[in-house]
Amino acid sequence: MDYQALLEQIHDQLRPVIGQGQVANYIPELAGVSPQHFGMAVVQLDGTVHAVGDARVPFSIQSISKLFTLVMALQCEGDALWQRVGREPSGNPFNSLVQLERESGIPRNPFINAGALVLADVLCTRYAVPETAVVDLTRKLAGHEDIHYNRRVAKSERDTAHRNAAMAYFIKSFGNLRNPVPQVLDAYCRHCAIEMNCVDLARAVTLLAHHGVLPRTGERLLSLGAAKRINALMLTCGTYDAAGDFAFSVGLPAKSGVGGGIVALVPGECGVCVWSPGLAPSGNSLAGSLALEHFTTLTGRSIF
Ligand code: DON
Repeated sequence: MDYQALLEQIHDQLRPVIGQGQVANYIPELAGVSPQHFGMAVVQLDGTVHAVGDARVPFSIQSISKLFTLVMALQCEGDALWQRVGREPSGNPFNSLVQLERESGIPRNPFINAGALVLADVLCTRYAVPETAVVDLTRKLAGHEDIHYNRRVAKSERDTAHRNAAMAYFIKSFGNLRNPVPQVLDAYCRHCAIEMNCVDLARAVTLLAHHGVLPRTGERLLSLGAAKRINALMLTCGTYDAAGDFAFSVGLPAKSGVGGGIVALVPGECGVCVWSPGLAPSGNSLAGSLALEHFTTLTGRSIF
């Protein structure tokens, strides 16, 4: 498979679409990002990198961080985690509060904001500085040290996190947060503000394409079962309330963020990441979703 030629073809096909959609503006620091960016990278399990466009420009990973915090929360808690967070698609927007009341403060899945607040709480219990531990994991997965969280973005999000705060206090009222809410919100906002580029992220998800073993070192970071479950959750819940449509049109485990990034993986073969900040109404990158649809159509590589 000539992935480099394929990425160039996808980039060319998408030129008319790049720039369309709405950049997330409810986090003030993200509102100024140009919607004209487009980058895409494929990293194969042997480490070979293919990249086009802005694939080496760092961006705010936002909810893609939920994937890394899930990896860490599962490492800390194992299956006990599933008593505090569910595994069903929510059928609601990622920042919705409505199910929490009926479901006693147990978020539907780890990839909606409510679920990720519980993950952040697990990490606040386990680590003195959870954001440092999460950044360390991203560095290990990406294979270099130059990854940080953006303090301005974290502050901007924290200053305006009224909805996430409401959610966290509500979950706390059901006894499903162990740590003080402000501490959990600080950690959550810092995780979301981590900046990585498409090459870093495509390499990071080769862990999941390789069933829990870091391809670069051969180190097992997740059990086979945990890797299988994370991939299943990515497919069913990784792209917000559009996960069904995403499975239909793309057919790969994926996780998106409102910074415009989407990671996906082909099991046994490669990690993929695309970034374009213009979002569709679902909150997923508009050009990014189309790029992944072209990717699976042109390669015939989907999990189906
Ligand atoms: O909490 C928020 O709204 C953002 N930091 C992240 C949102 C996002 O990317 C989608 N969430 N599932």
